[in-house]
Amino acid sequence: MVCLGNICRSPLAQGIAEDYSKRNGLGWEVDSAGTSSWHIDELPDRRSIETARKRGIDITDQRARQIKSRDLENFDLILAMDSSNYQDIISLTENEHLKLKVKLILNYLDPGRNASVPDPYFDGGFDHVFNLIESAIARMAEIEK
Ligand code: 4NP
Repeated sequence: MVCLGNICRSPLAQGIAEDYSKRNGLGWEVDSAGTSSWHIDELPDRRSIETARKRGIDITDQRARQIKSRDLENFDLILAMDSSNYQDIISLTENEHLKLKVKLILNYLDPGRNASVPDPYFDGGFDHVFNLIESAIARMAEIEK
C-alpha cells in the first residue's frame, strides 16, 4: 500500500487490508510505504489513527518508511493510492514483470478510470478515504483470489 507520505492514506490501507485478511483467514502479508522520505519513522497522522480506531482498527504500531525497489520484488501486488504515486513507483524499476505488479487501488472499483484516492492531508475527508479504500480492498480480494 503506497501513498506520498505514508502517514495518511497507505497506513489506513494497510490497517484495513490486515483486518480484512484476519477476518477472512487469508494470511496476507501487508505493509505500506511512501514515495517520499518526508515522514520516515513517524506515526500515522492522528486523523488516520482516529478514523481507523472508530472502525475498530488500531494502526498505532505503524511507522512511516520510504518505498524501495526491493519492495517490488518482495510483494506480489503494489497498490498505489494516486496516479502520481503510481508513476513514481513504476519509475523505480526497468523490469516489465515488476511494473505489472503495480496497480492503482481504485481501478478495482472503477476499472480503467485511473481514479485517485484524494489526499486528505490538507483538506481532510478521512472517513471518505477510509470507505473508498475499504471498498476497493474487498473488491481486490475477490478479483485477485
Ligand atoms: P499521504 O498524505 O500521502 O496520504 O500520507 C500526505 C502526507 C504528507 C504530505 C502530503 C500528503 N506532506 O505534504 O507532507
